[in-house]
Amino acid sequence: MRTNWKHNELIVIFILTVTIFLAVFVWGLGLFTDIEEEPYVSEETDRIVVGVSQLGSESGWRTANTESVQSVFTTENGYFLLFSNARQKQENQIKAIRSFISQRVDYIVFAPVVENGWRTVLQEAKEAGIPVIMMDRKVEAADQDLCVSWVGTDSRQEGVKAGRWLEGHLRKEGVTEEEDVNIVVLTGTEGASSAIGRSMGFAEVAHKHANWKILEEKCADFTSAKGKEVMAGFLRKYSDIDVVVSQNDDMTFGAIEAIREAGRTVGVYGEISIISFDAVHDALEMVADGTINVDIECNPNQGEYLSQVISMLEKGQEVEKDYYVEEDIFTIDNVTEEVLQERNY
Ligand code: AHR
Repeated sequence: MRTNWKHNELIVIFILTVTIFLAVFVWGLGLFTDIEEEPYVSEETDRIVVGVSQLGSESGWRTANTESVQSVFTTENGYFLLFSNARQKQENQIKAIRSFISQRVDYIVFAPVVENGWRTVLQEAKEAGIPVIMMDRKVEAADQDLCVSWVGTDSRQEGVKAGRWLEGHLRKEGVTEEEDVNIVVLTGTEGASSAIGRSMGFAEVAHKHANWKILEEKCADFTSAKGKEVMAGFLRKYSDIDVVVSQNDDMTFGAIEAIREAGRTVGVYGEISIISFDAVHDALEMVADGTINVDIECNPNQGEYLSQVISMLEKGQEVEKDYYVEEDIFTIDNVTEEVLQERNY
């Protein structure tokens, strides 16, 4: 009797074990199916799904650029936006783009932190049939064909404008071609197309003037903290700086702090002339009061243009390879109260 009972116990234990094993197996299968199917985007069939990879949030300009994109790719406008901030790291942008591809978005928009190193991931997007649009910065020329279009600013031209302004300024000040003009340049992120373009454009003008001495160009990463640090280093090294070319407003804010802490003066009424780029609100206030001599605008409002490119592509229309946003130059003569009021970034 006792032996029979033991036998039955064993059968019950066996059946229970098999049932639990099968249940876990079936549940596991369900889980894996969910991951592979990525139901997230397929639920969004009636809206245009756009994956945006922003390079970071290093400057006031970048924040405005992000806001411009986020204010356009909204539900009310018929979009579903997947937004990713790469925090200045190319590897994070590549990861984000791969995730957009696996989620089968309709379009990928990205601001490449640097020019090089995109070929593989852009080819993957192309093979998946997803159009990629660059914004703000560009990838290297050889890979631009892997993107359908670009919306941004003409950074080389911005550099040329800075050089031309300096030509006019020196002429007005009566500085002859025989007198040395000592210049230092704070450059943006190494390898970024906007930094490369601005350096190139300024150098084009500088090369025409044998008396313009570029003492040094150094990367300050488009940030205020780095701008201050690099400028303090320049001031320790060179006692005779006449002009600072700072490739964005954030670096300029830091550089001005360093100059003042070194007991020197800046701007229209000071010893060191300041050339800046971006023209965000706080910098324009400093142009108006003479602290910054000139600010070459870099327009961050690119969202509307991007949405127009996408709606053309949706209609099967041909799009241009490049769309340039409008840009101005600001000096003490044209920063009016109205300009300041309108500048909301
Ligand atoms: O690429 C555009 C530049 O990037 C802007 O001048 C700068 O502020 C930003 O960080």
